[in-house]
Amino acid sequence: MKVLAINGSPHIHGNTSTGIELVKEELALHGIELEKFDLGLQVIRGCTACNHCAKTKSGKCVFDDDPVNEGIDKIAQADAVLLASPVHYSGITGTMKSFLDRAFFATSRAPVNPFRHKVAAAFVCVRRAGGLPAFQSLLHYLTYAEMILATGSYWPVLYGAAPGEVLKDQEGTAVLKEISRNMAWILKNMKSGTTPPPQKEPKPSMNFIRE
Ligand SMILES: Cc1cc2nc3c(=O)[nH]c(=O)nc-3n(C[C@H](O)[C@H](O)[C@H](O)COP(=O)(O)O)c2cc1C
Repeated sequence: MKVLAINGSPHIHGNTSTGIELVKEELALHGIELEKFDLGLQVIRGCTACNHCAKTKSGKCVFDDDPVNEGIDKIAQADAVLLASPVHYSGITGTMKSFLDRAFFATSRAPVNPFRHKVAAAFVCVRRAGGLPAFQSLLHYLTYAEMILATGSYWPVLYGAAPGEVLKDQEGTAVLKEISRNMAWILKNMKSGTTPPPQKEPKPSMNFIRE
């Protein structure tokens, strides 16, 4: 079994990466592999709302010159996904938002969403404040795609500024370990489970403007 971790930090070896390594170590104890997918300093354009993915239902973004479509394939092939971002201005990084907007929108327009019912978790790294809105922002993608959340006994906001400093956040790292163990447990149960997944509910697309 394999977990794909998306690192939304510009720092390949920063605090977010350190947190991902902790999850990797914990998952390895349960025989589960983790691959890190670094967005790093790559230039990822935001969603242009061109609706090409909605028209073609291809599950891919029309722009194929950055890591979005590669990331879609990697998540689709993994058993679980971990979204991890540093906090920038009380939100996720711009690069992470651009990646997630396009990856999750394009796949949600496919006849069968390849992310649906995969196991998922998220955490953020922060120097001082703004962790919760950033964490919630990551949850918006996972819950929209009907993913199965692995959680811990506190909201996973890890504190640190200089690279590696998050390791000193003993409570935060303990919560990350809980999340990793819960993720491993859910994955193993799902693999051995025999109950078929529920059907999709036909859903009208509504806004709230009425003539
Ligand atoms: C542009 C920018 C904005 C930031 N905004 C915040 C913020 O709103 N709140 C905060 O506590 N830390 C903020 N930070 C600090 C980072 O969240 C913190 O250093 C984090 O550990 C970096 O993780 P990384 O090493 O994985 O990049 C910001 C850093 C940058 C570069």
